[in-house]
Amino acid sequence: MATSRAAQQWNAAQYARNARFVSTLGQPVLDLLNPRPGERILDLGCGDGALTEKLAAAGAVVVGVDGAADMVAAAQRRGIDARLMDGAALSFTQEFDAVFSNAALHWMKADPDAVIAGVARALKPGGRFVAEMGGHGCVAAIVVALTAVLKRRGINTATIIPWYFPTVDDYRGRLERGGFTVDYIELIPRPTPLPTIEGWIATFAGPLLNHLPEGERAQARDEAIELLRPVLCDDRGRWTADYIRLRFAARLP
Ligand code: BEZ
Repeated sequence: MATSRAAQQWNAAQYARNARFVSTLGQPVLDLLNPRPGERILDLGCGDGALTEKLAAAGAVVVGVDGAADMVAAAQRRGIDARLMDGAALSFTQEFDAVFSNAALHWMKADPDAVIAGVARALKPGGRFVAEMGGHGCVAAIVVALTAVLKRRGINTATIIPWYFPTVDDYRGRLERGGFTVDYIELIPRPTPLPTIEGWIATFAGPLLNHLPEGERAQARDEAIELLRPVLCDDRGRWTADYIRLRFAARLP
């Protein structure tokens, strides 16, 4: 993981408070994976292990990897074989029947092809890669609002957006060039109710707001929230983020 002051800092307790919906809404991609008893499955970007636990409950033999030490520790507390590892430098060779990933690949922005190559290396012949990530246009309103408040303060977000939200064509091409056959891939709009908008920004937008001096961040966040209110907040004060998922199932020959 990057270590600059703007890098994403993961905190398992904050994540559980503000982002439990990420794993709760993971059932469709689990269904797409259809884990079977005895299969060896790698959960890439396992976070605190909430979904990894479901894979294990289905009878799979599971290893989780994540780039954040606090999340790995939280997954280990659930009894999961979780390891600290860079998703772009997976160290496995032909060990798994499937690689699964939920809401993690969009954080592995620097080299998506290295991620896919590591997944292909980790899989046995015929192994499957089933995942869901943010897709093209995901949280567009939030990105625009944060971009606007940072621009007012002289910061250009063109190179500091921390997420990779690919189109179907982009990601399908990468998978195919990585040796996979793509059985299914789709962009799925999924408006996502949030516990609080402040919690979402605190949990996910650190890599953007942390480019500001500490004393300016709360004001910038509040300005972004006011820009977002007309489009993401209903008349009862409930916030819904404009998530778009990219879900796919691919396999090796
Ligand atoms: C997610 O975890 O799904 C997510 C995180 C940041 C931005 C958009 C989506």
